[in-house]
Amino acid sequence: MGLRAGIVGCGGISRSHATAYAGLKDVELVALCDIQPAALNARADEYAVSNRYTDFLEMFEKETLDVVSVCTHAPLHGPVTIAAADAGINVLSEKPLSTDLENADQMVMACKQAGVRLAVSHQYRFTPLFRHAKEWIESGRIGEFRSIREVGKGREAGFELMEMGVHYFDEMDFFMDGIEWVHAQVTYKGHSVGVEDIMHSSELCKTDRRDNGMVAGDTMLIHLGGKRGTSGLVELYRREPLQGWMMGPHILGSEGQLMIKPNANTGIDEMWYCPFDVSFAAHTPQWERILLPEEIFVIDGQQWEDRHSIWSVRDMVNAIRENRGPELGGLKALTSLECVSAVYESHFTEARAYLPLEDRRHPLIKRLAE
Ligand SMILES: NC(=O)c1ccc[n+]([C@@H]2O[C@H](COP(=O)([O-])OP(=O)(O)OC[C@H]3O[C@@H](n4cnc5c(N)ncnc54)[C@H](O)[C@@H]3O)[C@@H](O)[C@H]2O)c1
Repeated sequence: MGLRAGIVGCGGISRSHATAYAGLKDVELVALCDIQPAALNARADEYAVSNRYTDFLEMFEKETLDVVSVCTHAPLHGPVTIAAADAGINVLSEKPLSTDLENADQMVMACKQAGVRLAVSHQYRFTPLFRHAKEWIESGRIGEFRSIREVGKGREAGFELMEMGVHYFDEMDFFMDGIEWVHAQVTYKGHSVGVEDIMHSSELCKTDRRDNGMVAGDTMLIHLGGKRGTSGLVELYRREPLQGWMMGPHILGSEGQLMIKPNANTGIDEMWYCPFDVSFAAHTPQWERILLPEEIFVIDGQQWEDRHSIWSVRDMVNAIRENRGPELGGLKALTSLECVSAVYESHFTEARAYLPLEDRRHPLIKRLAE
């Protein structure tokens, strides 16, 4: 029998999950939920879903679901996940898993106790290009693996950290085989961030509707330490206009570099290789595009663009079918959020923050309370 899927939250990213479920063999998208009837009906009409709800508790009670995608803003991921776990439904939560580790721990615990899977949707690590880059690193194709750099799209850093930083941390965790520590500097309007600079994400970033909880800073420089002395560097700056094509890892090895960056016109990822360990403007080394066979991007007879949620949705669906844990399940689901907390912990203590963090409280709310 096919798997029965549902989605809570019918905004932007829900289309990507709905397309993924609709495109997978033996999976049926049977129910949708949104508090806004217009958003609910638009998405349900688009995918011909007749079971429509404005209350997720009612949906979980009335529907027999194998998996639910949680596509609301971050503060609601916890309540929806815990209710789904209580109803015995596997959960694929959009990122970030939550806005704080205490709540995320409760989500992991609720799913563990209920015997259901919980994964977070960081789709990049599952894509063929990311898998290929990792194979190159592991086979020594770029020599000794040294570092990975990521730059934000240009929104205020405190907002961007929760929105895109979690993706970057997950990809660094993937390429570096684990993150051991985080060291960060956070500034706001040119000064080092203090408690007085802590604010809600909607106050810091007025150009994005998403609720990322309490945040701080417009600029961040983040250094991550991985296994075998490798480093990750994340730079988040405010700049206009936003430039999505800057996203994607730049990987340095002792004998070469790799980049996976979206094409500025199509938005589709491309992998590039350069046989030098550094670049200089006056001696521009040659960059070569690495093309993968097209069939690598085919799932159940359909060709998929890179960075689509299909890659994380498929891992969850396969995990259920194969009776195994999802790749980004359990404690692994916490790593990218641990790094967000570690950024603020490191900034305020002026020291490295080691993972996993002992203090699970939200690092900013805790400081406001103190
Ligand atoms: N993985 C990715 O690449 C990716 C990309 C974009 C967004 N996201 C994440 O997806 C999440 C949603 O982002 P979005 O851009 O789709 O937001 P959005 O604002 O477009 O959609 C959110 C939807 O949730 C609905 N909602 C609010 N409260 C609800 C409730 N109680 N029950 C049911 N529905 C409710 C809203 O009405 C809205 O339609 C965020 O956490 C965001 O970070 C991930």
